[in-house]
Amino acid sequence: MKKIIAMMMALMLVLTGIAVFTACDGGEENKGSTETTTAAATTEPAENEAPKVLKMATNAYFQPYEFYKDGKIVGIDAEIAAAIAEKLGMTLEIVDMEFDSIITAVNEGSVDFGMAGMTVTEDRLKEVDFSTSYANGKQVIIVKEDSPITTADDLFAEGAAYKVGVQLGTTGDIYATGDFGAENVTTYSNGNEAVLALLGGSVDCVIIDNEPAKALVAANAGLKVLDTAYANEDYAICIKKGNTELLDAINNAIKELTADGTIDAIIAKYIK
Ligand code: ARG
Repeated sequence: MKKIIAMMMALMLVLTGIAVFTACDGGEENKGSTETTTAAATTEPAENEAPKVLKMATNAYFQPYEFYKDGKIVGIDAEIAAAIAEKLGMTLEIVDMEFDSIITAVNEGSVDFGMAGMTVTEDRLKEVDFSTSYANGKQVIIVKEDSPITTADDLFAEGAAYKVGVQLGTTGDIYATGDFGAENVTTYSNGNEAVLALLGGSVDCVIIDNEPAKALVAANAGLKVLDTAYANEDYAICIKKGNTELLDAINNAIKELTADGTIDAIIAKYIK
């Protein structure tokens, strides 16, 4: 009798063990797209030592790279960053801020890196280091469906003085200000506000990155994206100058995540 009880208890212990194990396993799922991601560690921290936090600055009004879904920041950048954090055995924390503040935050050290569909430019390279590029982008032009602007060239036509809307501090802002003068460029906090201004008639077009442009046009009737691109660019992660340890670690992670198809799969999930 004692033997049977002992056997039953042992069996119960094993079953509980399986139940606990399965529960943990299920918990690991769909972590890739959450705002704060606990990464499964390759270099697991000691038992009761919390995994180190990797802080990313972004501007989460830039679908499909970073945007809010059910109160969480999701998107291509959010998922690639989560995969990088996982490689480094760290927990990703995303801090949403004005696009214009990202480089400052990186340099002040309030965040570890910036990832925001950010284009590598000569000027930015003077302020921060950039990782290897993980995606391409291009600047395009959004107009109202019945707009007299039909190609990028129309903006440069003799005597044309179209009003351009852009997101503050973006390459769209920088290029448009250079080409058309600050007096013809109005800056907004994000692409959505620029598009509302276009619909309201305060600007004649919006210059913004291609994929966010498509998302904005899909969400707002009466708009279209012109076929001719305004500029081609590479997106990369920005890191404080001199932080070669983090730069190397991120570049290594990008290399591995490119080689095993993770980055392509994440991009394909958001860009059909
Ligand atoms: N690619 C452009 C730039 O680097 C725009 C990026 C805007 N990103 C954002 N998350 N709002 O200037």
